[in-house]
Amino acid sequence: MRKIVIAGNWKMYKTQAESQEFLQGFLPSLEQTPQDRDVILCVPFTDLNVVSKNLHGSRVHLGAQNVHWEEFGAYTGEISGPMLTEVGVRYVIVGHSERRQYFGETDETVNLRIKAAQRYELIPILCVGETKQQRDAGETERLIINQLEKALVDVDQNKLVIAYEPIWAIGTGDTCEAKEANRVIGLIRSQLSNPNVPIQYGGSVKPNNIDEIMAQPEIDGALVGGASLEPESFSRIVNYKVLSPENTLKS
Ligand code: PGA
Repeated sequence: MRKIVIAGNWKMYKTQAESQEFLQGFLPSLEQTPQDRDVILCVPFTDLNVVSKNLHGSRVHLGAQNVHWEEFGAYTGEISGPMLTEVGVRYVIVGHSERRQYFGETDETVNLRIKAAQRYELIPILCVGETKQQRDAGETERLIINQLEKALVDVDQNKLVIAYEPIWAIGTGDTCEAKEANRVIGLIRSQLSNPNVPIQYGGSVKPNNIDEIMAQPEIDGALVGGASLEPESFSRIVNYKVLSPENTLKS
């Protein structure tokens, strides 16, 4: 049985005070959440400590949004694995398209960061996905296979989560059709040596599309940006409804 993993990615949003306010609204809604769903919040570095304290005793795991490959050193602006685990971080997003696009992240640095995460007992959430141009040019499959090949060199696939995030669907409200996301995620799974790696879909996941997304057989969870910032919308997402087979067929 593959795990269900739902992660919020707060990106560069929320001060410490705002993060505490969020948790007050969000944590009570988890009482209804089935136990087989892992819930993660990937928060900005300055929020990690306070969110860690506030999550104590809850079922939510703490996540960060980046990790450097060295244990320490002269790397201004970076953060290391031991610094993250010290404050209770368990997961870390690696290779998000915003890091690739704006901060020069490459498949090679993504690979270094994934291996470092695993070395320090953090579970990496590896993001892969194509641009609109690449999709229109019919390059989606080749690109994703290439991203996976490079990112996963010498990586332990027993301690890994993958997120398929088509770049054109991120923050645009333009969700990838659930069936198409299911197809690409099936392709990703076919490239892995461990078929039980949880594979999430990410890109404009919202309360009104989560049930259909989670009804797809290959999709094991979601990586949620904008809709993870409000307690009500993220609660609805983690408490997604399992559609009956008739509803799934209709969609
Ligand atoms: P979005 O972001 O849900 O706001 O589209 C997803 C992500 O970037 O992980």
